[in-house]
Amino acid sequence: MKKGAVNMIHKELKAFPQNFLWGAASAAYQVEGAWNEEGKGLSNWDQFVRIPGKTFKGTTGDTAVGHYRRYKEDVQLMAEMGLKAYRFSVAWARIFPEGKGKVNEKGIEFYDSLINELIKHDIEPIVTLYHWDLPQALQEEYGGWESRQIIGDFTAYSTELFKRFGDRVKYWVSLNEQNIFTMFGYRNSMHPPGVKDDKLFYQVNHHANLANASVIKAFRSYVPEGKIGPSFAYTPSYPRSPEPKDIIASENAEELNSHWWMDVYAWGKYPKAAWDYLEKEGLAPSLEAGDLELLQEGKPDFMGLNYYQTATFEANPLDGGVSEGEMNTTGKKGTTKASGVPGLYRTADNPSLEKTNWDWTIDPQGLRVALRRITSRYQLPVLISENGLGEFDKLEEDGKVNDDYRIAFIRAHIQSMQEAISDGVELLGYCVWSFTDLLSWLNGFQKRYGFVYVNQHEEGEHDLKRTKKKSFYWYSEVIKSNGETL
Ligand code: BG6
Repeated sequence: MKKGAVNMIHKELKAFPQNFLWGAASAAYQVEGAWNEEGKGLSNWDQFVRIPGKTFKGTTGDTAVGHYRRYKEDVQLMAEMGLKAYRFSVAWARIFPEGKGKVNEKGIEFYDSLINELIKHDIEPIVTLYHWDLPQALQEEYGGWESRQIIGDFTAYSTELFKRFGDRVKYWVSLNEQNIFTMFGYRNSMHPPGVKDDKLFYQVNHHANLANASVIKAFRSYVPEGKIGPSFAYTPSYPRSPEPKDIIASENAEELNSHWWMDVYAWGKYPKAAWDYLEKEGLAPSLEAGDLELLQEGKPDFMGLNYYQTATFEANPLDGGVSEGEMNTTGKKGTTKASGVPGLYRTADNPSLEKTNWDWTIDPQGLRVALRRITSRYQLPVLISENGLGEFDKLEEDGKVNDDYRIAFIRAHIQSMQEAISDGVELLGYCVWSFTDLLSWLNGFQKRYGFVYVNQHEEGEHDLKRTKKKSFYWYSEVIKSNGETL
């Protein structure tokens, strides 16, 4: 047992559980490529990235990092590292090119072989059903998430995966970051379908809640021994100052940006203060008979947590307050502009935290805060389904990538996890984002996350060669020692 280093609450820290899932993660659109091969249908992202100005230097996932063709090489690298779990997503349009109807057996074959390859190397597959790439056919037919028809189609697609892979896959993630894909798709228009409509955003989100519950309900009959949960992008809120008006601002952010989703997942109901506020604003979603019952019937086995940073909030006046901000998608530090909702909150700088080149705060203790809040409020086990550092990496002339900053980042987060475990959190695993470098949706290829460098860039053709970074060897030792050697 190790001594606690930070905030000496624990004289000794608890060890990581023996079967802890030391993992890494990815998503289909960001790694696979082969966007129009072997029967795959078009997705909303295949379409969206072709609109000029939407992504950094117009990057697309057409090739991504070529994982579709190179998956065996990638799994070989995972095995060499000693990885215990690999979280990946299935491209819906590979299975159902039109979103529904006839199955594309080639798509099934690909994931089938990937799963078998992982199992052959004792790597636990964690399958995400939906990581943002919606079949374009469904977007065109009925507006995708805008219609309740999505509930049936998403359930049918997921059920197909449960039937095909449920004999070998125990861990499943239902929706990846529902809060992000609905907000970016319908509130700030930065993701497909590029809409800005607050009322529609809350309605779309309600449909996603119903689809999530419906899929979890179906899962129980097809994979009774399995575990399923959503992955939530949780950014814990802090108040900028001890002034009560900033504390309320932070509470508002927590309620509307986090409880609004996690309460529904865990308890099947919307939080009261947020609901009352949205109803007064004319923004609350319309519910139909049976909706609340369905939400009650689709509760998860764990909360999937995607943790990258914390955010700090202060009061924001109703008149003349800040609303839409600006996101840094270039890696030019300091270009993010404050955002908020007038009358509720606005983001503020936290001078005690360092930031990445994309202005994301670096806050390992924030992970502990997140884990403890989830545990105390929902009493669910947690799977950290994403955490990692997006930075510029340099492939040196000697063929090495010395990403010591990434090692320092992950190390500090693992220490925080161990403190959280000692606080009483039931932690199932830790999936670092990401295993190989991949396409960062809006930020091109220059914002790198992987343990494995991939020779892929925004411009020109590249050979996609894989190179193990320094962090690859370091994480391998962490896994071998079950988190003792950091
Ligand atoms: C999460 C997503 O939001 O964060 C990933 O689930 C994403 O798909 C990751 O890549 C990092 O975000 P970004 O914008 O830096 O790529």
